[in-house]
Amino acid sequence: MYTQAMDTMGKDAVDGEKTIRSAEDMQRQQRFDAHIDAGDFIEAKDWMPDNYRKTLVRQISQHAHSEIVGMLPEGNWISRAPTLKRKAILLAKVQDEGGHGLYLYAAAETLGTSRDQMFEALHSGKAKYSSIFNYPTLTWADMGTVGWLVDGAAIMNQVPICRCSYAPYARAMIRICREESFHQRQGFEALLTMMKQGTDAQKAMVQDAVNRWWWPSIMMFGPPDDQSPNSAQSMRWGIKRISNDELRQKFIDATVEQARILGVTLPDPDLKWNEERQAHDFGTIDWSEFWRVVGGDGPCNRERLAARVKAWDDGAWVRDAALAHAARQQQVALAA
Ligand code: 3HC
Repeated sequence: MYTQAMDTMGKDAVDGEKTIRSAEDMQRQQRFDAHIDAGDFIEAKDWMPDNYRKTLVRQISQHAHSEIVGMLPEGNWISRAPTLKRKAILLAKVQDEGGHGLYLYAAAETLGTSRDQMFEALHSGKAKYSSIFNYPTLTWADMGTVGWLVDGAAIMNQVPICRCSYAPYARAMIRICREESFHQRQGFEALLTMMKQGTDAQKAMVQDAVNRWWWPSIMMFGPPDDQSPNSAQSMRWGIKRISNDELRQKFIDATVEQARILGVTLPDPDLKWNEERQAHDFGTIDWSEFWRVVGGDGPCNRERLAARVKAWDDGAWVRDAALAHAARQQQVALAA
C-alpha cells in the first residue's frame, strides 16, 4: 500500500545502461559537489542533481505529512482536556503542527513538487508519514507522553536538519525546532504534575502510557544504519547530518535521566549504563512491528488516512469558493 509515490529516484538521462551527460552538466555537478564539500547551502535557484532533488522531496514530503497526520491523535483530546489551561496549550500545539506542515509543503514546492501532488500521494496511500502517528492515544496521560517522548524524539532528529544542505528546508526547520521544544516541555510538565501531585490512579495512567509509547518512539528514528537504504547518500549530501542509530542513542541517553526525575520506569529490562561505551545499552527493537506499521498495518493507519481524506473532501467547497473569488477578482481587475 505504501509505495512512496515520490521515491522513483530517477536517474540522469539513461540510454540502456549508459548514462548520457553533457559537459555542461558535468561542470555543474562538480560545482555542486564542491559546494556540498565546503558545507555551503544549496538554494532553490541553484543547479542540483535530479536525485538530490528527489531525495529532498521524498524526505520533506514524509516530514510534512507527519506533521499534518500528527495533528489527529492529539486533536482527539482537545475537547476532553482536563482544564482550560491544558486545553489552550493543546490547541496551540496542534495548531503549531499544522503550521509546520505548511512550512514544509512550501519547502517542497521550491523543489518543483506542488502541494496538490503531495496531498494526492498522501490520500492515495502512496506517501509515507511517521510510523508513530499510527498508534492510538487512549488516555489523557498519552498527551503528556506524546509531548515528552514523541516531540522529544522529533527534536533530537530535527535539530541537525537545521544544518541541512538545502537552505529552504534548513530555514523552515529553525522555527519548527523552537516550537517543538515547547511541545516537549509542555508534555514533560504535564506528566510531572500527574506524577508529583496526582492520585495513584493518575500515576498508573502515566506509567501505562510510557509503557505503550516507549518502543514506538525509539523506532521513529528509522531502521538501523546498516538497513537504511537512504542514509549513506543523504549523509554524503548533507541532508542528514547524524545517523539513525546515533540519534536514537542520543535520545535514549537523554531520556533515561528525565524518566528518573518523573519517577517512571522505561519498559526495557536491558536498559543500563555501559561505562565503556559511555552510553546506555538497550534491548532489541521489534523491527517487524516497525515495518508492519510503515507498511500500512499499524493500529490506526486506516483511521488516520480516512480522516485526512474526509477533511480534504469536506474542504472542497472552500477551495472552489476561493478559486471562484480569485477568478472574479481577476475579471474585475481586467475590466477596470
Ligand atoms: N516512519 C515511517 N517511515 C519511516 C520511518 C518512520 N519512523 N523511518 C524511516 N522510514 C522510512 C523512510 O522514509 C524510508 O522509506 P522511503 O525510502 O520509501 O522514503 C525507509 O523507511 C528507509 O529508511 P531510511 O533510514 O533509509 O530513510 P531516511 O534516510 O529518509 O531516514 C528519517 C528516515 C530519519 C525519518 C528521515 O527521513 C528524517 O529525518 N526525516 C525528517 C524528519 C521527519 O520526517 N520526522 C517525522 C517525525 S514526527 C514529526 O515531525 C511531527 C512532530 O510534531 C512530532
